[in-house]
Amino acid sequence: MCGIIGYVGTRDAAPILLEGLRRLEYRGYDSAGVAIQNGAGLQVLKLAGRVHVLKERLGHQPLHGTSGIAHTRWATHGAPTGRNAHPHRDCTGDIALVHNGIIENADALRAALERQGHRFTTETDTETLAHLIEDAAGATLEDRVIAALAHVEGTYGLAVMSAAQPGKIVVARQGSPVLLGIGENEFFVASDASAVLEYTRSVVYLDDGDIAVLTPTEYHVIDSDSHVQLREVDDVTWDLAAIELGGYPHFMLKEIMEQPDTVRATLRGRLLFEHGTARLNGLNLPPEACAEIRRIVVVACGTSWHSGLVGRHVIEDLTGIPVQVEYASEYRYRRQLALPGTLTIAISQSGETADTLEAMRAARAAGSRVLGIVNVVGSTIAREADGGIYLHAGPEIGVASTKAFTSQIVALVMLGLYLGRQRGLDEEQGREIVCRLAQLPQLVSRTLALEPQVKALAERYADKPNFLYLGRGVNFPVALEGALKLKEISYIHAEGYPAAEMKHGPIALIDANMPVVFVAPKDDVYQKVVSNMQEVKARGGRIIAFTSEGNGDLSALADQQLRVPATLPLLSPVLTSIPLQLLAYHIAVLRGCDVDRPRNLAKSVTVE
Ligand code: G6P
Repeated sequence: MCGIIGYVGTRDAAPILLEGLRRLEYRGYDSAGVAIQNGAGLQVLKLAGRVHVLKERLGHQPLHGTSGIAHTRWATHGAPTGRNAHPHRDCTGDIALVHNGIIENADALRAALERQGHRFTTETDTETLAHLIEDAAGATLEDRVIAALAHVEGTYGLAVMSAAQPGKIVVARQGSPVLLGIGENEFFVASDASAVLEYTRSVVYLDDGDIAVLTPTEYHVIDSDSHVQLREVDDVTWDLAAIELGGYPHFMLKEIMEQPDTVRATLRGRLLFEHGTARLNGLNLPPEACAEIRRIVVVACGTSWHSGLVGRHVIEDLTGIPVQVEYASEYRYRRQLALPGTLTIAISQSGETADTLEAMRAARAAGSRVLGIVNVVGSTIAREADGGIYLHAGPEIGVASTKAFTSQIVALVMLGLYLGRQRGLDEEQGREIVCRLAQLPQLVSRTLALEPQVKALAERYADKPNFLYLGRGVNFPVALEGALKLKEISYIHAEGYPAAEMKHGPIALIDANMPVVFVAPKDDVYQKVVSNMQEVKARGGRIIAFTSEGNGDLSALADQQLRVPATLPLLSPVLTSIPLQLLAYHIAVLRGCDVDRPRNLAKSVTVE
């Protein structure tokens, strides 16, 4: 949700800021802007549209200077126009700032500021910050920012410059991710590490309440009482290639194709063949704590919520512990039941999703131990959780999540295995699961070899206005995820349903124009799913079946059938989800959609 970047140093700032914005564009892409400090004060250029539009404009109208801030926006308050784009100014033109987050008391602040004579030029909540800083007392810009923020309720990752104090950026964090990039005689502020990786691997993750002050010669972090805070400098371990297209036309396709490696990375060093269990060092869950677990609550959003549903099947099956899976946005506002023995697991690719973070905090406040299953190292959920599992899937840039989903499932299976082995799952069964997990990367490669056939399916069905996705058991969440992928990137209406539940409603939609995608690998409910196919066939629906090797021929029922490799039923979602990702991808490409930046979406939803 909105990307911010800032630079102070000795180089020309504009190209660095534009490149940073390009890398942050997955966070929002409806408008963009930049403020550059030069001898004549702060020069601002902002407009509606993507970062490349801003870049073209700066090609004609260059802005030179060695410090600046920039922003790519995902609109919350005010339409995505050039006027509402960041940076925002105060009345005098002294202040320019970029903001990620929401100022919740913006209406009241605005009314008060207008009564005092401030003139607002935008519809945004952010503009209130510029006017508050304009009025705030203090000898330095950081003093004024601290004083202004005392009036603010809400969330922010903020970078502020003042024309009167050239070469300085003041940064503040409350609830929205911000990190500093540490270079030699140059410093950066950014929403995430991808924006600064080209220049430095050393980053400082700020905590809520931190204020950072950057100049070309030094940086320091203080709290709101101006006391210096010591923050570790971390090393970013992934390299630039991980955030480049590497010859693929889209990040989504690159990330789908990376899955043999990403699944391998999630498993690496964690399988204990001899003991039939998993080693999960970051879990911080000693055997006594495992024994105390009476229920598990999963909180997540979007695709991560779907992997949580897969996890429910897997963990209940392997451990006997009841698992409930909650939309984080709903859970956080429900009465928290302080039941002893509750373990809460927050699942999040980004580790920054606001609702998931708050649901995790609410669970902790009610006495629960909290774990994070997170991809982005150093993200807020990862840092606040008591322990957890990193996916190690590398940066996921495509807005539609793919490789994170399969890695989340693998992580959840390892967690189920680890807990199960402590609670009665026998060693032999454990070894079987470990062996099958170890085979997965190779099976994922074989599944990806189906791509030409999936593409042919896409060509056949790309013009259909509606799709139904059906599955049962551990593959019902895969049907939900397949439908989500399609609607996210191709804008085709798609619904996922439990296959048997279809007859309680969606069956009314079925006719020759309705493709019905069945997820039906070999498992205990396979024959039941075949019966559901018959119900569709009897009503003239078009059936696309994703089944697995070892299952019988479905050609009497299905218009098309594709087979993924066979594996344990509990692991099958890792394979069955892949052709659905490819189907959504190819349909979206055929329909001319912007696959990596679908309309209205953002990858990292840091507002509630
Ligand atoms: C957004 C993204 C989805 C993602 C969801 C949760 O809606 O577009 O792809 O699944 O957020 O994100 P998280 O980072 O918490 O997994």
